Amino acid sequence: MPSEPHQTVVVDGLALSREIRARLAEAVARHVQDGRRPPSLAVVLVGDDRASAAYIKGKRRACERVGMNSVEHRLEASATEADVIETVEGLNRDEAVDGILVQIPLPDGIDPNRVAEAIDPAKDVDGLHPLNAGRLLLGQPGWVACTPLGIMKILEHHRIPLEGANAVVIGRSAIVGKPISLLLQRAHATVTMCHSRTRDLAAICREADVLVAAVGVPRLVKADWIKPGAAVIDVGVSVIEGELVGDVDTDGARGIASIVTPHRRGVGPMTITMLLQNTLGAYECAGRPRPRIASS
Ligand code: GUN
Repeated sequence: MPSEPHQTVVVDGLALSREIRARLAEAVARHVQDGRRPPSLAVVLVGDDRASAAYIKGKRRACERVGMNSVEHRLEASATEADVIETVEGLNRDEAVDGILVQIPLPDGIDPNRVAEAIDPAKDVDGLHPLNAGRLLLGQPGWVACTPLGIMKILEHHRIPLEGANAVVIGRSAIVGKPISLLLQRAHATVTMCHSRTRDLAAICREADVLVAAVGVPRLVKADWIKPGAAVIDVGVSVIEGELVGDVDTDGARGIASIVTPHRRGVGPMTITMLLQNTLGAYECAGRPRPRIASS
């Protein structure tokens, strides 16, 4: 028998971001009032990828709005891996820099893993250094990637029960799929990680109380893959004929899911907000041996 239609809440990631950013701005203002310099984020962009340039503009504006300093380092598309690593090492040494983010994707020929390894783990606000990734795996305090942190905040804000819940994550990237799987597991969900070779993805998704789609395959998740009452988080962003499209048929999810994130003003603003939060954390930890922030 078909179940009753659900009143689906469309997540307002912008409103939630504003609440959190207001608190971050207050914390920054207190530091400045006490005579300290503001926290500072360095962003490295290699090449002229238009989407990346737009993302880092958003990051810079967000930093400024909470009173943080932001510095951009732009390298030509012809830059070598050694050039990028040299830039990162300079930022590691710079005591006026608290957080470092190297925008990905990087041009062909530059290994993102080698670049991530060059970042001082204490300044790795993206959580991509193997030490931070390993700490997450082991359940130790460390910096965690921003999109997964933002997703956990959304789930917490909407009081989505995680303990014992079936969570399905589609995508196994280092920046979203793997860390969100670990965070959901840490919150006592039973996590299934799916990817391009997964058999009968639809059947697995239909069991999901929490469904996170992060593969970049437009409208992969159909309405009839969604369990009634599921929390649906759509991380995918693709552009089809000038239109922004996610990994989920979001319109179809309405009336089925309990919550669903929209393509705009969903997960995106929360990612930037968590970047600000991590940068403030790195600033407050500067000079101490280990990062303080452990999770969401
Ligand atoms: N490109 C798209 N999202 C991200 C992110 O969160 N961090 C980095 N470094 N690059 C990205």
